[in-house]
Amino acid sequence: MATELEPDPSPGRRERGYADFQDHLAALDAAGLLYRVDRAVDKDSVLHPLVRWQFRGGLAEADRKAFLFTDVVDAAGRGYDFPVAVGALAANAEIYSIGMGVPVDEIGETWRRAMQDPIPPGIVHDAPCHDAVLTGDALRGDGRGLDAIPVPISTPGYDAAPYLTATCCISADPDTGVQNMGTYRAQLKAPDRLGLKMFVDLGQGGYDHWLKCRERGRKLEMAIVVGCPPPVAYCAPQKIAFGTDELAVAGGIVGSPINVVRAKTVDLKVPAESEFVIEGTIDTEYMEPEGPFGESHGHINLEEYNFIFEVTAITHRRNAVFASIISQVTPSESSVVKRVAYEPLFLEHLRDHLGIKGVRRVSMHEPLTNLRRVIVLQVATGTPRTEVWRALYGTTSFQQPCGKYVIAVNEDIDPENADAVFWAMAYRSNPERDTAILPHRDRGHGPKGTEEDSSLLIDATLRGPLPPVALPKRDYMERARALWDELGLPPLRPEPPWHGYSLGDWSDKWDGDAARAAAGGWRDNGERSRQKRRSGVRPNDLLRDGEDGAE
Ligand SMILES: Cc1cc2nc3c(=O)[nH]c(=O)nc-3n(C[C@H](O)[C@H](O)[C@H](O)COP(=O)(O)O)c2cc1C
Repeated sequence: MATELEPDPSPGRRERGYADFQDHLAALDAAGLLYRVDRAVDKDSVLHPLVRWQFRGGLAEADRKAFLFTDVVDAAGRGYDFPVAVGALAANAEIYSIGMGVPVDEIGETWRRAMQDPIPPGIVHDAPCHDAVLTGDALRGDGRGLDAIPVPISTPGYDAAPYLTATCCISADPDTGVQNMGTYRAQLKAPDRLGLKMFVDLGQGGYDHWLKCRERGRKLEMAIVVGCPPPVAYCAPQKIAFGTDELAVAGGIVGSPINVVRAKTVDLKVPAESEFVIEGTIDTEYMEPEGPFGESHGHINLEEYNFIFEVTAITHRRNAVFASIISQVTPSESSVVKRVAYEPLFLEHLRDHLGIKGVRRVSMHEPLTNLRRVIVLQVATGTPRTEVWRALYGTTSFQQPCGKYVIAVNEDIDPENADAVFWAMAYRSNPERDTAILPHRDRGHGPKGTEEDSSLLIDATLRGPLPPVALPKRDYMERARALWDELGLPPLRPEPPWHGYSLGDWSDKWDGDAARAAAGGWRDNGERSRQKRRSGVRPNDLLRDGEDGAE
């Protein structure tokens, strides 16, 4: 590909108000969030499995990093001109926040603002993504076209081919001309041909455009961007209203227009600072088998008839870096990229659109279940039961595949800790009274084999006072912690609940007894209880403050 490079660009052409993908990699490196692997690594059998260990090896999310492979080879030992980055978009929330240019706790608000105030892209005529332009014969034959790009195999042992995974697939609505951008996987089939999977039942914008083109009896034009300014890449898998140009939302994120340039062989505008752009057309009559491929629902997506993408041009920037997203079984880069964007939008929907003030947090369960199926809502203690139920119903209806199991818990329950959620279900809910099953939910994103699905809603919030959590009060635990540290015992990672606290059913009298006991006054307590000795009471009968326990 290098032979096709155009002369060096003029220095002024790249003016922009945001970081491109290579600036982002430099920022990750500076933050200690990038592993650089310089030894030769086989993209077909080793590269993704190596990064996979990061997600299946017991590392905490905060310890995950991006990988940059600088010497990529294929199964036959052939080298490539381009390095490969994996995990650079969202191996963890911190990497994503660097890509968004805001701290983690401002990600939700940034999305809200960007969707409310999108900034249309600005057109440029000279773009880095056109440093090299390949068409015609340059796209055909060994080592040319797609065969010159180091595309890894994601799930060796199951996948039928290398796949483009970090895609921003751009197409235009034939009625309005408004562009859509979605992340859809693409299977390498020939140097100039891809198989593309667009879900037909998830409301994909690209599929909508394809249907409209089919009605007109013509092919759908598409440009697949791989590697671009991170906010652009984050918009592609985000669910954004039909008819909104995701590139304008990306502009809203960075607060300035995203530079776009006209593609070379299709009538589309693509981000000027893209690393690679694969232009082509999609047949609206014929389909070809595509897959198998490891899916983000954690099972292999078996072979299906899917779209045929015929490549008309490949363009790339000088020294391009190829980006690949690691997906399949969650947690993965693909689930992080969705979680950090979806959770705040769910919260906004419940709190600001439905006006349910008691909702504090929405937590989409990530490990193995992949976000959509199990959702935990944290609500303020004392939120009326009817409002808790409105939140449960509202969660099942916001996004089509989301909310198979929705559980409401109080603020003292960590929604990310399944043990704590089971604890709330075990002691705060009565299945007969506090659950509802809603029929007719789409089976959504999952392995084939099921028809319609349903939702189970569980109110596991406190419906009345409960006795305190049976752990030492906070100050006793904290004093003991200081001694623990002083003794040099193994480092602790406190897990809530790590101290006792009141849940409403407790009295000053019992507080006094406990304080006296902890101060060594247990005999005094014994004497007080002797004075309340009664006959005619049942064993196990509760004795409340002020009551004498007699029948
Ligand atoms: C890593 C990754 C891979 C994805 N692969 C596909 C895919 O192959 N096909 C698809 O239709 N959606 C896929 N999705 C989900 C879509 O990107 C998502 O539904 C998005 O909203 C689609 O954009 P659209 O609504 O503009 O069409 C993927 C998402 C991620 C994060």
